[in-house]
Order: sequence, then structure tokens, then C-alpha cells
Amino acid sequence: MRVPLIAGNWKMNGSLALVEQFGQAFAKADLSSSMEAVILPPSPYLAAAQTAFGKTSLGLGAQTVNPEPSGAYTGEVSASMLSEFGVRYVLVGHSERRSLYQEDDKAVLARAQAILKTGLIPVLCVGETLDERDEGRTETTVLNQVKAVFDMLDAQQRQHMVIAYEPVWAIGTGRTATPEQAQEVHAAIRACLVDYDKQMASRLRLLYGGSMKRENAAELLAQPDIDGGLIGGASLKVDDFLAICQSVG
Ligand code: PGA
Repeated sequence: MRVPLIAGNWKMNGSLALVEQFGQAFAKADLSSSMEAVILPPSPYLAAAQTAFGKTSLGLGAQTVNPEPSGAYTGEVSASMLSEFGVRYVLVGHSERRSLYQEDDKAVLARAQAILKTGLIPVLCVGETLDERDEGRTETTVLNQVKAVFDMLDAQQRQHMVIAYEPVWAIGTGRTATPEQAQEVHAAIRACLVDYDKQMASRLRLLYGGSMKRENAAELLAQPDIDGGLIGGASLKVDDFLAICQSVG
């Protein structure tokens, strides 16, 4: 049984006031105990979020991490630091990190390994650009990104991963993949995971991301291989994010 996961990626948005607002709203919210909801705020808000979410069902995640445990890496944050603030999930390979900060598959793998070593859960983001889709290379692109990491992990580590399929053309554009398009790629990812281990493949959670909002969440989440969502824009409005969490059925 895969526990649905709804993760709100605030990116470089939000404020202390928004952290408080989420804490108050989720303290009163009636959420199913058979799903997980987490917010991934910018790192400076982690301490406040840990306190504000303490009495709620909201968990905490982080958007990026440095692969090194410590040292002279000005501006960077390590996995053990994130762990000290109650972080459980950390994104790796988000398309914005891949394109704006040149994080290639090797850099993504190093981060995933550092996260696993600390006992946290990497959320490996994969997805094709519009050109890649138009050229019929969606599956190859996505599966190559998955394999670049999964090939290098051991059986135990693979079980502790989450994968988020986020078509690059759907991120922040308002253009969502149709439930059928998303399901097709999710099914291909799951089939690829079967080659490593059938049981791991059936247990691993696959999230969809890319303009998921309250209006389309239920339909996407109803697909057999979509086990949750990675939400950007719509995770900044408490009512919208709550509605998405409540549409997990
Ligand atoms: P979006 O972002 O929901 O604003 O499209 C998703 C993401 O980048 O994780």
C-alpha cells in the first residue's frame, strides 16, 4: 500500500507570516491519516516551520542540499543540518536546479547519496522538455534520469526513494499534463523500476508535478500510478494546498 504524499515546494517564495498561516490552518484541518502532507520552505524558515507545524500533521522537506557533510562551501547547507530541523524529504534534480545551477545527473546522484546517508528521503525529480516530448524522447529522457541515480544505489537505498515526474513544460506554466499523459510516463517509470526489484517497484511512490492545482488534482491523483503531487504555485495559498491534500482519495 503506497501512502499518498502531497509536497508543497515553495521555491524562493513565502514568508514567516505564511509559515504561521499554514501552521494555524493545518492545526484545524481535517486531513485523512492515510496520507502525508509536507511543505518544503526556503531553508531560513525551517526552524519557524518546525515550531509552527509541530501540532499539525504537516511534515517538513527541503528544496536542495550540498552533497558534502560539512566544510568550506559558502552559502550551502548539509543534509545533517536539515535533519536537525525535522526535515524528512529533500528534492534532488528539480528542473530549476538542473537548468539554472547546472546540476547534472552526477550532481543529482551525489546529493541523493548524501541524503540517504543521513537517513532522509530524496525526492528525485525527472522530466522532459517540450522539445524532447515533441521529438518523441519523453520516455528515454525520463528513464535515463531515473537510471542515472538508481543504477548507482544499492537495493536498500532504492527502497527509500521517492520519484517526482515533472514535465518541464508544465512547471509554472499553467499547462498541466493530461491525466493520461502523466499516467503513461508514471507507468513507464514503474515498469523500469521492476527491472531492479518487483517489490520495490510496487511500493515506491511516484508523484506528479507541473501546474497541479485544486481543479485538476483529483483527476491526476486518481490515476493508478500517481501516488501524490509535487506542488509549486498552488502550495503558496493555504486553501488551495489544503484542497489538494483533501482531494487524495
Ligand atoms: P508548479 O511547480 O506547480 O508551479 O508548476 C511544480 C514544481 O516545480 O515542483
